[in-house]
Amino acid sequence: MKEDTEIVSKGRDIEDDMRIVNAPVFHASTVLLPNAKALKSHDLKYNYGRRGSPASFAFKKSLAELEGGYDAVLTPSGLAAISTAILTFVKAGDHILVTDSCYAPTRRFCEVMLKRLGIETTFYDPTIGAAIDRFFRDNTRLVFCESPGSQTFEVQDMPAISKAAHAKGILVIADNTWASPYFHKPLTLGADISLQSITKYVGGHSDLLMGSITAPKKHWDALFHTHSILGSSVGPDDVYLAQRGLRTLAVRMRQHQENALKVAQWLENRPEVKRVLYPALPSHPQHDLWKRDFAGASGTFGVVLTTPPSDAVESMLDGYIHFGIGYSFGGYESLAITVDPSTSRSATSWDSSKTGLRYHIGLEDPDDLIADLEAGFARLKENTP
Ligand SMILES: Cc1ncc(COP(=O)(O)O)c(C=O)c1O
Repeated sequence: MKEDTEIVSKGRDIEDDMRIVNAPVFHASTVLLPNAKALKSHDLKYNYGRRGSPASFAFKKSLAELEGGYDAVLTPSGLAAISTAILTFVKAGDHILVTDSCYAPTRRFCEVMLKRLGIETTFYDPTIGAAIDRFFRDNTRLVFCESPGSQTFEVQDMPAISKAAHAKGILVIADNTWASPYFHKPLTLGADISLQSITKYVGGHSDLLMGSITAPKKHWDALFHTHSILGSSVGPDDVYLAQRGLRTLAVRMRQHQENALKVAQWLENRPEVKRVLYPALPSHPQHDLWKRDFAGASGTFGVVLTTPPSDAVESMLDGYIHFGIGYSFGGYESLAITVDPSTSRSATSWDSSKTGLRYHIGLEDPDDLIADLEAGFARLKENTP
């Protein structure tokens, strides 16, 4: 079965043969057991709301199959997926390696929570590849990748990192939020665990928060138990929305890519722009790695202007008609924010004397977006003293 077909049809084998296309929503905390004997059984699929509902089981199954894993857990946010995945594999006294380009709250989780639990984190340059082995210690337990990186968009050599890690019995966890499982499958490139913020491209409509973690069979029990112990669960309405988002993931991702490429190429030729950080552009330093390991690019990229941060840049953003100012990405609507990666880097440097921006290119007509950006550059010029 081709992937686009899988996306619309997997996870439809709902119990009771109800013949409903979408797994229905059950609002349930209490599940009534068939008899007192069942209290001693741990095999009931549904025994309490936190365990899941027909919709969450259907959705998990679709995700796991799309990512090439055995099964998946759902978490109340992408950040909860990150913390749950890491906590599954570490204990006091362990050391972990985390990409310097990680989502900033991932860094905070390591620097605050893991430190408190006696787990040490070293941040590494995301372009390190196989040379990551120079950071391995006897107590290194896992490598946490995010490719491309948040805000700076470096693509990592996942197969090389995984090979080096596995040679020492070290696990690899990948945050796959940017590409979504439609364009990138870390488990097929050597990663042991793939997680994502469902909030972004799978949800796709800016109306829910959720995360997922997919594991192969050999790591499933560990992940399932940690997830249960932490008490993570997701509401049935959000699962329904996420499942609905997944059904159109393929067409949305292709359109995000087409629109983003057109806008990114236009931006690259503007005098106000120093660099566009988009792996799909041949000018991106790891474009070849992206071509080798990804089936496509999402609609999110970075831009560095030739000018420093200023009120004029803010007026450029404030006047956009189609680009909202908002922290997320992955929805059908375009977004823009200013960024300063230097505030969340320790192993690499970032020159913040020039304005950093992150754009999410939505499903609007790219010509309208380009006109909006062009008017923004006119405002930038007008308001620059
Ligand atoms: C790469 C990446 N991972 C994880 C997250 C966290 O997702 P959530 O907002 O669903 O907690 C984000 C959010 O922006 C992200 O960009």
